Amino acid sequence: MFVCVCNGITERQVREAIDQGASTLQDLTACLGVASGCGTCAHFTNQLLDQSRDGCTSALMCAA
Ligand code: FES
Repeated sequence: MFVCVCNGITERQVREAIDQGASTLQDLTACLGVASGCGTCAHFTNQLLDQSRDGCTSALMCAA
């Protein structure tokens, strides 16, 4: 699934960057370019960061 349509960045790419140490939206913007365009993806990207901090690996698990 695409997280950032402007830059063609997938959820998998974001999760991999988080696994490799990205811990803020700024980190992800710097390494992937996510949220560097319209910014629509920033909220969902922050949710992925929050989920990783909570130890959750599935967006569905954390949707409730
Ligand atoms: S969708 Fe990510 S910057 Fe526009």
